[in-house]
This record gives sequence, structure tokens and C-alpha cells, in this order.
Amino acid sequence: MINIKNVKYYPELRKVAELADEIWHECFVDIISPGQIDYMVEKFQSLGAMTNQIENQSYLYFAVCDDEDLCGYIAVKPEEDDRFFLSKLYLRSDKRGRGIASLMMNYVFDTARKAGKKSVYLTVNKYNSHAVEVYKKIGYKLIDSVVTDIGGGYVMDDYIFSYAL
Ligand SMILES: CC(C)(COP(=O)(O)OP(=O)(O)OC[C@H]1O[C@@H](n2cnc3c(N)ncnc32)[C@H](O)[C@@H]1OP(=O)(O)O)[C@@H](O)C(=O)NCCC(=O)NCCS
Repeated sequence: MINIKNVKYYPELRKVAELADEIWHECFVDIISPGQIDYMVEKFQSLGAMTNQIENQSYLYFAVCDDEDLCGYIAVKPEEDDRFFLSKLYLRSDKRGRGIASLMMNYVFDTARKAGKKSVYLTVNKYNSHAVEVYKKIGYKLIDSVVTDIGGGYVMDDYIFSYAL
């Protein structure tokens, strides 16, 4: 049985950071360089980075567990306007293809509606074709693309998708 719960603190957040490290090094291996994966994990998904996002940038993190097995996570951020930013949606590889992603996405939509938002948007690497197909299937629409300089000599080359609630 899948359960999704808000996590804010050590030690739960550390477990999410460890899972993020594992998933990012697996799923981006054909898309971005090993150096960039290490850089992005440290910058965005280390325990310190996530704690800063939660405490200072209004991010919410959610752990996704299959019974007791922590197998995925979500990060979201309500914007000042009527948009809800889906920042992270990650599932360990052995749990993919089972409908868990749709449960996770419905949880995001419910959370956004409860916050009074009108749309959910996300960025996705242009070459992350599986995620792009999943988002399109769910009903997201491509609205833009963006290249973001993240320092260290690296950029993120992303599509922006939006879903009207
Ligand atoms: C993105 C991710 C969360 C999706 O989870 P998943 O388990 O692979 O997704 P599913 O197989 O459950 O697919 C979700 C839906 O998309 C559909 N889908 C999957 N692949 C598809 C394809 N190629 N074409 C059309 N529809 C597709 C599925 O049928 C399913 O729809 P349904 O629930 O109505 O049956 C997961 O693959 C993941 O964590 N990937 C690595 C991390 C990542 O890339 N995260 C996104 C970063 S932006």
C-alpha cells in the first residue's frame, strides 16, 4: 500500500536525500554527465540544500512509501500567484510502471487545489523522454522551454509543462 507523507526534518529528510542520490545517478546517466549529476545532487538534493529549500524557500517535500519501503519522493512549492510548482517527482526504478506515478501526481494536484491554485507547472530535461511522455499522457501541455545556468559550467536544458487544475 502506497502512502505519501510530508517530511521536514532529520532523519526522514536524510533518507530522502540518500534516495535522491541513488535515483539521480541511475536515471540521468544517459542524459547528463557524471560531473553534472554530482554537482546537481549536491546543489539541489543534499540534506543541506533540501533543508534550505524547506526553511527559506517555501518548498514542501513528501516521502512516498510502499508499505515501509521509501521508494520515491515529491517536492513542490506554491508560487505567490495562482501557480503551483512541481519541483521533483522521483520514483526508484524497481517501482516504475505500476501506477504509482499517477497516484503521486494526483496527490500533487489535490495539494495544489487545497492551496487554491489554478495550475501546476514543472520543468523537465528535454532529453528525459520517458518523463516527457508520462507528463503528456497525464494531460500536461508544453508551454515553453528554458536553458538555466546553474553554475559550475553547467546548464539545465528544460521544457516547461503546465497542467490546468
Ligand atoms: C517520471 C516517473 C516518476 C514516472 O513514473 P513511472 O512509474 O515510470 O510512470 P508510469 O509507468 O506509471 O506511467 C505514468 C502514466 O504514463 C503513461 N505512460 C508511460 N509511458 C508512456 C509513453 N511512452 N507514452 C504514453 N504514455 C505513457 C502510463 O501508461 C501511465 O498512465 P496510466 O496511469 O493512465 O496508465 C518515473 O519514471 C521516474 O521517477 N523517473 C526517473 C526520475 C525522473 O525522470 N523524474 C522526473 C524528473 S522531471
